[in-house]
Amino acid sequence: MDKVLARGSGTPTPRPRARTALTLAAAGVAVFAVTVAVATSASAGTTLGSSAAESGRYFGAAVAANKLSDSTYVGILNREFNMVTPENEMKWDATEPSQNQFNYTNGDRIVSHAQANGMRVRGHALAWHSQQPGWAQNLSGTALRSAMTNHVTQVATHYKGKIYAWDVVNEAFDDGGNGARRDSNLQRTGNDWIEVAFRTARTADPGAKLCYNDYNTDGQNAKSNAVYAMVQDFKARGVPIDCVGFQSHFNPNSPVPNDYQANLQRFANLGVDVQITELDIEGSGTAQADNYSKVVKACLAVSRCTGLTVWGIRDSDSWRASGTPLLFDGNGNKKAAYTSTLNALNGGGTTPPTTAPPTTTPPTTAPPTTAPPTTAPPTTPPAGGGCTATLSLNQWQGGFVTYVTVKIGASPANGWTVGLTLPSGAVITNTWSATPSGTTGTVTFRNVDYNGQLGAGASTEFGFQGNGVGPSGTATCTVR
Ligand code: G3I
Repeated sequence: MDKVLARGSGTPTPRPRARTALTLAAAGVAVFAVTVAVATSASAGTTLGSSAAESGRYFGAAVAANKLSDSTYVGILNREFNMVTPENEMKWDATEPSQNQFNYTNGDRIVSHAQANGMRVRGHALAWHSQQPGWAQNLSGTALRSAMTNHVTQVATHYKGKIYAWDVVNEAFDDGGNGARRDSNLQRTGNDWIEVAFRTARTADPGAKLCYNDYNTDGQNAKSNAVYAMVQDFKARGVPIDCVGFQSHFNPNSPVPNDYQANLQRFANLGVDVQITELDIEGSGTAQADNYSKVVKACLAVSRCTGLTVWGIRDSDSWRASGTPLLFDGNGNKKAAYTSTLNALNGGGTTPPTTAPPTTTPPTTAPPTTAPPTTAPPTTPPAGGGCTATLSLNQWQGGFVTYVTVKIGASPANGWTVGLTLPSGAVITNTWSATPSGTTGTVTFRNVDYNGQLGAGASTEFGFQGNGVGPSGTATCTVR
């Protein structure tokens, strides 16, 4: 298996980088762009997940719980992917079939499988006009608003600490070219339903990245412009949003837009991560392979594009099976699109930024009450051999996530070890992309299988979550 997570570890949760800038700005502190975009050299990872990880990204798949007994399916999943999205199992109709009666059985199965195999989880989706249970479809007004916030609170709390990113709100904009909100029962509860959902999710799971997710927003158009304006407004007013998901369902009638990369970049420039969340491209052969390559290269060219997820594994698993839109055929064989995707991932890219983005517009509402993440200044690669380890801390009341960027010096490394001392009382509960020696006091973190061999000047990231006050600053780093 290529993806090995620390024994006993769970899934990582992200740093909501956006809050850094907002909080600092609210405190009257000048915030400057210190984004570090590091060009990585071409490499030769042999799986989608390991190749994506070489530039600090993930490669995920939508997973159906009822396929976890299919050995071909699971074999590909475990070999190739390091992020999963439950395809239907965390939706409102699945998790709350009767009001206030929650069923997490199938969502939990997917999370357990992910944790046991070193994969992270994108949660999908907390608030959406579609796939609502019948009882919710019949609600309106304050009853529906209360039901929605209760649903967000309950589900995000159940999965707290286990979700990398939540699609908090899905598909809330209209396709009619007018840039309007989609009419839905949720929209009719008031225009603020989206920001209420985000604020509720932040309270329930402060460690999860909170995303807005939509389709037909992959290029610049009236719909993506409307989403852009909403994100810009949320950032300006301190509404907690960390990422925007671009579903990227493509076919001949809806091809990969030529301004795909530019569109990702303009959202990233607002100070949010961007993610390709439901990628599938109908077609076959070279044309399909070229389109996949184009999408992957666009993500790699945008430093805040943190990963890609394909919407299924084999063509036969797809919601659009007849369009053969995925990377593996119905027998589980790699298609030309797989090879072009892997090659594009191995072509290198920019690493996601390790510090908060700049902000120029101070929030006009009260800032979040959590302390701002602290990030040590970026380090230059060591001149000789060796490596450096730079810590980025997201601290909240009672808990923290620390991200560690390991940067290799002038000589290639066969492995690395990072050492640090946790503040008194801090206890690590999760580690990802490294194996820790313990959970308290002085801890060393050793690389896992897929991120030990790094070229000169290359970098990788691991992280850990814990209770108490987390460490920040720098740590020792040695190579083998
Ligand atoms: O599980 C039942 C089965 O018991 C029943 O016999 C069968 C009869 O139709 O239905 C099965 O449920 C289906 C479910 O997928 C599981 O296969 C539903 O009918 C079907 O509507 C549902 O479709 C899902 C669709 O969302 C619903 O909107 C697709 O699997 C899922 O891939 C798709 O995913 C969405 C994202 O959530 C949001 N973006 C678009 C994307 C593609 O439509």
